[in-house]
Amino acid sequence: MFKPYILTVSSEKGGVGKTTLATNLAIYLKALAEDLPVTVLSFDNHFTVDRMFRIGNTLPKGDVSDLFTGRGPEALVETGEYGVQFIPSSRKLTEIRDSLKEVDALGRLLASSPLEGVVIIDTRPDLDILTRNALFAADRVIIPVKDAPSLENCRNIYDFFQEQGLSRKDLRILPCLIDARIRFDGPFRDSYRLLKGYAINRGYRCLEGYIAKSPKVESLNTNPEGKIYPVITHGRGTEVHIQFAHLARQVYLGAKEKPDRRLDDIRRSLSVKQEEREDAFSKRREHLAPVCLICGKNLVTSDAVAPAGYYAETSDGRIAGFLEEECFSGAIFSQFYRTRREIDPTDAVRDLFRESSHRSYFVLRRAPNTRNFYQQQISFYRFDENGLEVSHKVVDLKTFQPRFLNRDPSGLYQLIERTLLDVEGKLDDAFLLVRRTSTDFPEEILYSEEYGNFRKIAEKISAQLP
Ligand SMILES: Nc1ncnc2c1ncn2[C@@H]1O[C@H](COP(=O)(O)OP(=O)(O)O)[C@@H](O)[C@H]1O
Ligand SMILES: [Mg+2]
Repeated sequence: MFKPYILTVSSEKGGVGKTTLATNLAIYLKALAEDLPVTVLSFDNHFTVDRMFRIGNTLPKGDVSDLFTGRGPEALVETGEYGVQFIPSSRKLTEIRDSLKEVDALGRLLASSPLEGVVIIDTRPDLDILTRNALFAADRVIIPVKDAPSLENCRNIYDFFQEQGLSRKDLRILPCLIDARIRFDGPFRDSYRLLKGYAINRGYRCLEGYIAKSPKVESLNTNPEGKIYPVITHGRGTEVHIQFAHLARQVYLGAKEKPDRRLDDIRRSLSVKQEEREDAFSKRREHLAPVCLICGKNLVTSDAVAPAGYYAETSDGRIAGFLEEECFSGAIFSQFYRTRREIDPTDAVRDLFRESSHRSYFVLRRAPNTRNFYQQQISFYRFDENGLEVSHKVVDLKTFQPRFLNRDPSGLYQLIERTLLDVEGKLDDAFLLVRRTSTDFPEEILYSEEYGNFRKIAEKISAQLP
């Protein structure tokens, strides 16, 4: 088996020969090593890959955009001309570009697929998020340059590698579209030598050789059949043919000799992250109060959390635990909505509260009026999903005292006391943030993504409170 080796062709300049290089290199690699699976895909919006490799007029099973919506590359790959596999190009990449944030999405996808061999990725002439994904996953990046400005443009790719902590040794410059007729006086006799000199001067590594500009090669995408012909079949008489063959050999040997693959690094850092997430989850789980923070009923055991209704945590993280649905909504209703009558399960207002609670965050805190706990007023806020204030009510703390409560005489009072008084019994600015949990699986709120969101909202709310 040939472990996947990702080769990305990238440059911020258009028209430097990226697509020509990516597609032809695939064919030359196949010619060199018949058994080596070679797969090409492009994040550009033209359909060169498809025009070059699709056999017949079969309808594609999907395209590169589907990679990001959960379909594995193995489900999208088609076997094409010259034995090269390809993933069809897409017109829907704009949406992906707008929604994709992480730089390692493609790497993760490829790392969890059974794809083998060399995967060549053609990119758009900019450093958009898809290009950055293709760079992040790459074992080798080839940067075609055809002139001094395109060489200047390489800097951003080098900076990206630096930023991401990736090895810049994996980057290679390749002078392309070199016009052999242009000659200079002095040490750099032609534009190939000149570009190479510039590159080395800047500390960039170059591939051996270059790709010459050839009118024959330029003509290969214009013909009555509307096809794009490869150099190997239609440009054998050109020096570009020899140059591609030489390049393919370099790439093949480089791939064979590279002991460790980029996807292995990505897999490793994924499993480290996973372990960290699991550790953080266990810590949060251990820190939980085992009982309903209001009524004291047992809710949390080592293997499960009973259906609870709400999760509550103080802004300083001191107290964390679940609240029974009835305990919280009952106390809030009797205290802040003054419905003193017995709870009627068909009560429309409470139904409304329950329903809207799924899209809300609740906050209990001291109203900022006095420093004396026992004359305190308590604020109850409702915030929406984005942490924006929806409503705010204030009541005197003394109404929470046991004789005023119609159910669970002291639970909410004690919880407020524990929230507002610090360990030394001094009034604190901490608040209690309460969030509805999923009924079947309340622990979900402690998972990194959900919990991260909960803490983010806590911070946002904290910044807004007077
Ligand atoms: N070696 C070459 N000699 C002559 N023309 C070339 C060569 N390589 C590419 N071209 C032409 O240059 C243009 C740009 O090439 P392309 O591969 O599409 O660049 P990019 O993907 O960087 O935009 C195309 O018209 C292509 O046919
Ligand atoms: Mg292109």
